[in-house]
Amino acid sequence: MTLRHVISAEQFDRRFLDGLFDDADTMAAALHSGTPPVSACGRIMATLFYEPSTRTRLSFEAAMHRLGGSVISTENAREFSSAAKGETVADTVRIVGGYADVIVIRHYERDSAEIASRFSPVPVINAGAGAGEHPSQAFLDLYTMKKEKGRIDGLKIALVGDLLHGRTVHSLARLLPLYDGMEIFFVSPPELRIPEEYVECLGRKGVLYNETHDFRAVEDADIIYMTRVQKERFSSEKKYARAKNCYVLGRKALGSLKHDAVIMHPLPRVGEVSPDIDSDQRAAYFRQAMNGLYVRMALLKHVLS
Ligand code: NCD
Repeated sequence: MTLRHVISAEQFDRRFLDGLFDDADTMAAALHSGTPPVSACGRIMATLFYEPSTRTRLSFEAAMHRLGGSVISTENAREFSSAAKGETVADTVRIVGGYADVIVIRHYERDSAEIASRFSPVPVINAGAGAGEHPSQAFLDLYTMKKEKGRIDGLKIALVGDLLHGRTVHSLARLLPLYDGMEIFFVSPPELRIPEEYVECLGRKGVLYNETHDFRAVEDADIIYMTRVQKERFSSEKKYARAKNCYVLGRKALGSLKHDAVIMHPLPRVGEVSPDIDSDQRAAYFRQAMNGLYVRMALLKHVLS
């Protein structure tokens, strides 16, 4: 598969993911032996971030540096780029695409990355598009499941929290049907249910899934994927306040999980996963964040080749 832009999880198949995960393994091994491949030597990556980020931007940037490439960046593009003067994403990427070999963009509009890909002369990677998608996070999430459990096929997965606005869950929901024997529980308050457009493919592909507001669904899961209630997507502080503490995974709940369950979270967490479970072997979210570096090295290598 020749890959140009990375906009939606819908673009990808299992063969691509298998290759990406093999490459990520190679990247991790090379990094730890102190000999990362310099496959991006002489290339430039631009990061355009119109929304806050820690892990995504810094892991993309670290990945590019580790591959021997360089980075140009505007970290608060909403305020510090010409967007503040009224410039459109289309114009910005036309210009930045002349300076860089790949553009990584995070934006508050759902169609931002897609628009960018139509105007950019170089590959565009969607690093989070409003309440839409975040495909590279879904890649590293699946890679983490594979590493932690040794397989993805046949896993029971509980996706928990703000499934209406959580873009990482949206991209994941589009990739999970690529695997066999999956069972998915979407656990959310009724007002934060996953939008239909992300689950319709599950039914079509024969994936078993269930929507519930009952947190006890996690007790049967191999993977518990917690998410933050996305404050910035609510129309009022009051509505957010009503939703914010819907589910909390702490010491008490830990006892009812499978002994070999894996607890994931794209981070940042704001109370839904209590720090008092961090030392439990099942808590995989910091390992998951580390995997972001390896997967993004593999993705950049692929996009730039
Ligand atoms: C997520 C995001 O930005 O969508 N964070 C991330 O990329 N690791 C999740 C979130 O912000 O809640």
